[in-house]
Amino acid sequence: MNSWFKTLILRKRDGDVIGEEDWRRFVGALVAGELPDYQVSAFLMAIYFRGMTTEETATLTQAMASSGEQLSLGAGPYVDKHSTGGVGDKVTLVAVPWAAACGARVAKLSGRGLGFTGGTVDKLEAIPGFSCSLTATRLKELADAVGCAIAEARAIAPADKIIYALRDATATVEALPLVVSSILSKKIAGGAPAFVFDVKAGRGAFARDEKRARDLARALVAAAKAAGRRATAVLTAMDQPLGRAVGNGLEVAEAAATLRGEGPGDVLEVSAAVAAEMLVSAGVAGPEGARTRLARALEAGDAFAKLDEMARAQGAPREWRQRLPRAAASANVFAEDGGYVSLLDAFAVARAANALGAGRATKEDEIDPAAGVVLHKKTGDAVSPGDVLMTLHYDDDRRLAEALRYARAAAEVGDRPTSRPAVLEVLR
Ligand code: URA
Repeated sequence: MNSWFKTLILRKRDGDVIGEEDWRRFVGALVAGELPDYQVSAFLMAIYFRGMTTEETATLTQAMASSGEQLSLGAGPYVDKHSTGGVGDKVTLVAVPWAAACGARVAKLSGRGLGFTGGTVDKLEAIPGFSCSLTATRLKELADAVGCAIAEARAIAPADKIIYALRDATATVEALPLVVSSILSKKIAGGAPAFVFDVKAGRGAFARDEKRARDLARALVAAAKAAGRRATAVLTAMDQPLGRAVGNGLEVAEAAATLRGEGPGDVLEVSAAVAAEMLVSAGVAGPEGARTRLARALEAGDAFAKLDEMARAQGAPREWRQRLPRAAASANVFAEDGGYVSLLDAFAVARAANALGAGRATKEDEIDPAAGVVLHKKTGDAVSPGDVLMTLHYDDDRRLAEALRYARAAAEVGDRPTSRPAVLEVLR
């Protein structure tokens, strides 16, 4: 047992504000394996009940960010974006090349999907030949040459991995300062001077209710600023999946269609809001100018051309869009009642897509890049009995029965149209 750390637990338990030296010592000792799990767990529970000041959160975040590899991007209009995770969330694939086509520079570290949310690396790897295995040097080189590049995050913020595992085991995942330091430490290690957070609220999000999502958005922006970065947050709806496609290859196709002006309205709306904030945070444009530039880039085809350029720079062949994976079989889910779709539960759709092979339950699971769900109706749409609500795409027949169970439970039909905007608020 460590007596310095015991005193720190006691101080946090009693509501003391902990200073920079102790936070740094905590992270150092944690990564060195010097702190027993039972003491760290007690400390996390004390944080859960007592909270942390913005300065404490910023200090812990910095210490966690420096616990592993850190990128150094230097001067330039660099900006990074981060989503708290959702279903059908292909915003990175749209907003990153779109912002890069307008002059921002993005060297982005992304992760794989785990649990019910997807990951950008899995989506990009559905593109034949696309590699996210880039060294930090190569990531920066490509971002400077193309305007954007995306690599798999590996050796960054190891302190987060240790803390996250203990939070998961001790019912302290929800502690807001711990969520903020977890997300922000990985962003800071990525080296950008400015961040845009896409904070999702709803059934398919980490924060199910809007108030909690707003608190998280505010806390992320405050802690990022306290750590000397520019930051904004876009609060977006995640009760139903974003867009119509859920599943890696299907989402890439939808993202490409969106950049060609042929995508669903909600994907376009959220991506435009995130890309506009990226341009403003990068110092490339003001809020009005950002929207004008984005509209021009979309119309002129520059936004799609940038995605294409990034894909080819990272290994995809010229005809990658035609070679996206296609599943061998499909099955439809039909509406039983007539009326208006009143609920399309993002969580249930994610479970259906994952049951088909689009996601993984453990880190070791293989995913099927062709598997997933395409929604033909969204919340607020009129339906008649027998209409196709969604199509399940799959390669393995054994996976269908379970997926159908989730998919059938996902949709509810009511007698009145309801709607909720895709972008709820921008917090600066
Ligand atoms: N995402 C993270 O990276 N960490 C959290 O704690 C929650 C969401």
